[in-house]
Amino acid sequence: MKVLVINASANRERSATLRLTKAFLEGLGEEAEFINTIDLKVNPCRACYACWFRTNGQCVQQDDATEVMEKIRRADVQIWSVPLYAYGAPSHCKALMDRTLCFNSPKMYLDGRGLAHHYGYEDGSKKTVLIATAGLPNVKGNFDGLVFQMKRMYGENTAAICCAEGSLFMSPETEAVVAPYLESVRKAGREYAETGRVSDELQSYLDALLVPADEYVRTVNGIFENLMNQGKGA
Ligand SMILES: Cc1cc2nc3c(=O)[nH]c(=O)nc-3n(C[C@H](O)[C@H](O)[C@H](O)COP(=O)(O)O)c2cc1C
Repeated sequence: MKVLVINASANRERSATLRLTKAFLEGLGEEAEFINTIDLKVNPCRACYACWFRTNGQCVQQDDATEVMEKIRRADVQIWSVPLYAYGAPSHCKALMDRTLCFNSPKMYLDGRGLAHHYGYEDGSKKTVLIATAGLPNVKGNFDGLVFQMKRMYGENTAAICCAEGSLFMSPETEAVVAPYLESVRKAGREYAETGRVSDELQSYLDALLVPADEYVRTVNGIFENLMNQGKGA
């Protein structure tokens, strides 16, 4: 199985989100190819619609997105590993997402619920997983925009693992707290390998906070205060 990880963290391999993604891959039992969107030169989509009306799905712009889109086409599973920036995807990741317009046809259809979609990956035919983290411990609302966007673009069957307490994954002091969550992400990978989805019970656990919000705020503020003091001493 070809698995492509699109790592949208500006922190590359030091990404908190990537820790979750690697746990998911362990559960999936697959090797993956990794791409860092921060290192790509991806022009904005020019909305010329050549991919729709002239080139049969090929973007006329030649830049790093050309190769990445071929990799997505060839992948059996695409995993978007996305830290939440301004309640959405980081700009370098969003630029790439916009360019995937060429995976769809201009023609539309209405699904059983009366929702309109373009023919193409919007029907969920490209297996897609979103793994995201955020810094603020708000389980409600934080990821709404990002999850909505990914599900509309790549299908309602897109699996989404969104952890609203991402800062816990950046400090050795919190290993004991994050270990059970990472184990559950591994389990999600195993379930996804077996059934193509994450079970409702496991999803509920993954959607919940690791620690209560007030405890998170206290812990993370303490870590940040130390970093601020170190910064002043430097
Ligand atoms: C530019 C920028 C914007 C951010 N915006 C948000 C935000 O809107 N909401 C939030 O909860 N966290 C926000 N964060 C925090 C990150 O989502 C969080 O630290 C995340 O876990 C980082 O993941 P990474 O280590 O994989 O890059 C932002 C961070 C940066 C650098």
